Amino acid sequence: MLSAKEVLQVCSIIPVLAIEDAAKAVDIAYALKDGGINIMEITLRTDAACDAISKVAQEVDGMMVGAGTVINTEQFKMVKDAGARFVISPGMTESLLDYAQDSKTPFIPGVANASDVMLGMEYGLSAFKLFPAHIVGGVDTLKAFSGPFKEVSFCPTGGVNINNLRGYLDMPNVLCVGGTWICPSDLIKEGKYEEITRLCKEGLIVARGNTDAA
Ligand code: 3PG
Repeated sequence: MLSAKEVLQVCSIIPVLAIEDAAKAVDIAYALKDGGINIMEITLRTDAACDAISKVAQEVDGMMVGAGTVINTEQFKMVKDAGARFVISPGMTESLLDYAQDSKTPFIPGVANASDVMLGMEYGLSAFKLFPAHIVGGVDTLKAFSGPFKEVSFCPTGGVNINNLRGYLDMPNVLCVGGTWICPSDLIKEGKYEEITRLCKEGLIVARGNTDAA
């Protein structure tokens, strides 16, 4: 099993997806892989999410599929049973932190302030989602966190896009960024897989530091 930190090091961009039709999940996963992205967060914002997770987990080799928007322990158990290899939450509760500690699945909860980071650290965590990154101060907040929380790493999510991702990735305490822009729901609905692949390639070029692609 990977640690939460290792999960955030799989790729510099984690696509955050809402999949309405589980039958499309495998094609979407291949579209991401063709674009060079081998990790995806399927959020529990649709009824199809769990089926989508299990299809990708069973059918797509080399894709690290995880669950997002997990806000209680029942959901944690459900996505784990479906095959999620990591679990992301917009925030944290003590019951989720307790549950995650006993589970073998890496947990990456959301933090929005110093107290959240400290609570997570009490449970031995050192990798968090910063959420909603842009609203809670973005790069300035990450810079401020690097003082007191030297060993802590983040995945900023919420308001990240092709124009600002490089600024986030330049921060030494950022391992990757997350976002919906790279695999938007309208492209999923319309089955525009080639466009999803194009967005992934564009994102990775910018992530690697070539801003001409944006
Ligand atoms: C999430 O839950 O991670 C966010 O909704 C993603 O935010 P974005 O749509 O601004 O990328």
